[in-house]
Amino acid sequence: MAQLQLSNLRKSFGPVQVIKGLDLGIADGEFVVFVGPSGCGKSTTLRIIAGLEDATSGTIALDGRDVTRARPADRGIAMVFQSYALFPHMTVADNIGFGLQLQRLDRTVVAARVAEVAETLHLTPLLARYPRELSGGQRQRVAIGRAIIRNPKVFLFDEPLSNLDAALRVQMRLEIARLHQRLRATMVYVTHDQVEAMTLADRIVVFNDGRIEQVGKPMELYENPANRFVAGFIGAPAMNFLPVRLGGGRVDSPGLAPVAALPGKASAVELGLRPEHLAVASGPEADIRGEVELVERLGAETYAHVRVPGQPADLTLRLPGETDHRPGAPIAITVDWSRAKWFDADGRVV
Ligand SMILES: Nc1ncnc2c1ncn2[C@@H]1O[C@H](COP(=O)(O)OP(=O)(O)O)[C@@H](O)[C@H]1O
Ligand SMILES: [Mg+2]
Repeated sequence: MAQLQLSNLRKSFGPVQVIKGLDLGIADGEFVVFVGPSGCGKSTTLRIIAGLEDATSGTIALDGRDVTRARPADRGIAMVFQSYALFPHMTVADNIGFGLQLQRLDRTVVAARVAEVAETLHLTPLLARYPRELSGGQRQRVAIGRAIIRNPKVFLFDEPLSNLDAALRVQMRLEIARLHQRLRATMVYVTHDQVEAMTLADRIVVFNDGRIEQVGKPMELYENPANRFVAGFIGAPAMNFLPVRLGGGRVDSPGLAPVAALPGKASAVELGLRPEHLAVASGPEADIRGEVELVERLGAETYAHVRVPGQPADLTLRLPGETDHRPGAPIAITVDWSRAKWFDADGRVV
């Protein structure tokens, strides 16, 4: 269907450069998820791909054809927005079929395509309704239907589920995954939701301040983040960071029992420990000692927030659901050192 290539893409609004040279290839049929903090340029990049915004410089190629200056309608790209952007005075059927009606296709052809798309998205019983008569999830499905009916080469989704409540988000996430499996279309999806990114993506692109920090499969980013930014951004609850001093062959950090320095880590100034790589010590030996400050019970698992004397921030531990930790109680922690990450003063993994 469609291979997408962004080359040295830049965008400035007035004097402010917000996209600072993106290079990214997206394979045919791939599901790529953009993540990154608010304002880092995810939506702007999508809008440039769609043609809703002009690139200041750089190129976008679709199947090898330069579409950087092509009109949005000529790109074969459909975009689904967080706000749905449905026409309030049109029925579901007309909202879905509008794009085809504009192309002056025969009414019966349009109706048949609308029926087909509605079936796919479980909207058949709702075709005569107006957007105001729909739930948020149903509105989002109509917005997706409007994109599907055009048979686009590329689907762009900008935080499509963030207006939905939690249960519906999970359901729609599965529907989008199914849609991708069925259509095999190239999809670029923006989200700030960790779980959406990890579960939907073939590859995740981590943005930061108009640049790409790292591109990789979800588990690659989780297990081998290139730097502190990616390490802190991927994974929820987030990685714990402890300042360290290395000297005399030892790692030194407040509250941390002396550990032998690992070879090759001499330039490390920070230690990264994921909450799931910390455990409650079962014997007298412990790597870290602290005091439980807060316990969050989620059912299947429990997060314990632990104050460690001398550490700038609490440590978060991801524990099994059934734990009897209480605020104020001392806690001894062991570290899975094989999973520890070390960062130098520039935030690079060492
Ligand atoms: N039309 C615009 N005019 C000026 N600045 C803009 C415009 N659109 C976006 N920006 C700025 O560009 C930056 C990136 O925005 P955006 O792409 O929407 O971020 P994200 O989607 O990652 O949250 C932000 O600093 C934003 O304020
Ligand atoms: Mg955005």
